[in-house]
Amino acid sequence: MFIGPHELPNRLFVAPMAGVTDRPFRQLCKQLGAGYAVSEMVTSRKDLWNSLKTSRRANHEGETAPIAVQIAGTDAAMMAEAAAYNIDRGAQIIDINMGCPAKKVCNKWAGSALMQDEPLALDIVQAVVAACAPHNVPVTLKMRTGWSQQHKNAVRIARAAESAGVAMLTVHGRTREQGYKGQAEYDTIAAVKAAVKVPVVANGDITSPEKAQTVLAYTGVDAIMIGRAAQGRPWIFGDIAHYLATGQHRAPPLTQQVKQWLLDHLDDHYSLYGEFAGVRTARKHIGWAVRALPGGEDFRAHMNTLETCASQVQAVADFFEALSVDHDRLPLVDTAWDDDEAAQDAREAACTAN
Ligand SMILES: Cc1cc2nc3c(=O)[nH]c(=O)nc-3n(C[C@H](O)[C@H](O)[C@H](O)COP(=O)(O)O)c2cc1C
Repeated sequence: MFIGPHELPNRLFVAPMAGVTDRPFRQLCKQLGAGYAVSEMVTSRKDLWNSLKTSRRANHEGETAPIAVQIAGTDAAMMAEAAAYNIDRGAQIIDINMGCPAKKVCNKWAGSALMQDEPLALDIVQAVVAACAPHNVPVTLKMRTGWSQQHKNAVRIARAAESAGVAMLTVHGRTREQGYKGQAEYDTIAAVKAAVKVPVVANGDITSPEKAQTVLAYTGVDAIMIGRAAQGRPWIFGDIAHYLATGQHRAPPLTQQVKQWLLDHLDDHYSLYGEFAGVRTARKHIGWAVRALPGGEDFRAHMNTLETCASQVQAVADFFEALSVDHDRLPLVDTAWDDDEAAQDAREAACTAN
């Protein structure tokens, strides 16, 4: 599988998730079997490029290539500038965000809202491709199936984007109107795959090796992209790769191994965010890791009261140490996520670009 000149080790991708897929998490997923990861979106608004949030999002130190940066915005010239800015900072692939359903990005309708304005969407694609071409940097596009059930225009946008020079298309099988509700559908993704020659990636509700295999077979896509199911379970990429290769499930990871992965992740996480922000932003990753484990909910409540890196690390180490007494391997984890209002608010907040 190639994106432009970049050969990828496999076709299992990590979805960009603002507030989640920072450099430490992307790197962890890549170590545990993901073939490709896209950064959280970086705004096209210049005045925010020096903000702490954006500069952390543009940090790729030590990340396994290719480095892919997602940009978001509503103005073609600004998006072209944002592409060039990120290429200067190490981006080897630029991804355009037409998938995020957040109400506003940079106080304007952006993300999947762009799918409602096809001429503007195409202007943006053309401007970004023109900015990236001199650097030999491929441009990819992530979108939804359409604006609403009545306006599923993914196939039309896919064809236009391909003609404008886009090197890969990712489709999340929901409309913008759906947000994260209902089920992802794969018919529109299959139609996009049939309509274009560039690689197409299927995304949405892929939570298990079986689902991965089904979506690959049903849509004929070149790759699949996984978001929420990787939260707290970054080894899902290795699980899927094993299943696709052998038809067998591999054993759950050793509890001690999971402990070490999480401690290494925390170490990398604190080095990017520092103590104050690091401890707070690590809580969600730890929470996801323990949510379905015996004693996980109580542990999560306790862990949220800890204020230092040292106490957080110690608590995590103690939790997994105690778990490993009775569970050599991680007890089976129920990965269903709870998409309540709080989760939606958090997503909305993370998707704002400042
Ligand atoms: C917390 C969160 C943040 C997200 N941020 C982005 C983003 O910055 N850019 C984007 O294109 N999609 C974003 N998404 C959408 C995901 O990339 C993906 O399309 C969606 O979660 C569906 O895939 P899944 O069912 O595997 O989670 C986000 C999703 C979540 C849950």
